[in-house]
Amino acid sequence: MGKGGGCVSSKNKSSKSSNSSKNPINVPSSTKNLKIFIVFYSMYGHVENLSRRMKKGIETVEGVEGVLYRAPETMSEDVLVKIQAPLKDDSIPEISSPSDLVDADGFLFGFPTRFGCMAAQMKALFDSTGNLWKEQKLAGKPAGFFVSSGSQGGGQETTAWTAITQLAHHGMLFVPIGYTFGAGMFDMDTVRGGSPYGAGVFAGDGSREATEAELAVAEYQGKYMATIVKKLVHG
Ligand SMILES: Cc1cc2nc3c(=O)[nH]c(=O)nc-3n(C[C@H](O)[C@H](O)[C@H](O)COP(=O)(O)O)c2cc1C
Repeated sequence: MGKGGGCVSSKNKSSKSSNSSKNPINVPSSTKNLKIFIVFYSMYGHVENLSRRMKKGIETVEGVEGVLYRAPETMSEDVLVKIQAPLKDDSIPEISSPSDLVDADGFLFGFPTRFGCMAAQMKALFDSTGNLWKEQKLAGKPAGFFVSSGSQGGGQETTAWTAITQLAHHGMLFVPIGYTFGAGMFDMDTVRGGSPYGAGVFAGDGSREATEAELAVAEYQGKYMATIVKKLVHG
């Protein structure tokens, strides 16, 4: 069994070339408003706060728009009530079908850590992209990550790092922020989430709110990604 039925047995392989002859890396050539999809999962709101600030950063770059989407919830209402997950703001739509992703010129994927890796809800979304993978529909699209962890050492870096496999299989371009944010990356005076892999927030026991320093990196990452996407598309 392949990825969402994506693997075809050697007997049934079609000789049709997919979209590869027309646009090998799926980069749009027109001058339309570019769209960066901020696709996130957030159970308690920390990743969501970073997402909203990231959109603000994206939209400081002319001609680029940030579009917020939630990864679909996979837990039942009963369980969500038991674990005291707040109601989600439904003004932010869920990704309704993996094929929605094809319309993006770039991505920022945000997720909380679960034992050092992305939350299962986000992994389920990636797992549903087998048909896109089969035709490499997302290949060449740039993507960055941002995360939330409860504690320091709890997975700020591993959660982003282990997510890179998703991009590699799709042929997507990983865009980390490196140390381009500047001096704030080296600040040792305050507790601050985020890393060269992308913005981050510490949730603590859940009651901690993102600090302005964490939100500033999120805003910066949005702007940085918008600049990269624009360069990639328009040169
Ligand atoms: C099953 C489970 C596993 C978790 N594993 C970790 C972990 O490995 N490291 C950590 O720092 N926090 C861990 N957490 C805490 C979450 O990362 C935290 O609730 C989340 O970052 C909050 O983000 P959100 O408000 O966007 O949901 C875990 C939480 C759950 C429910």
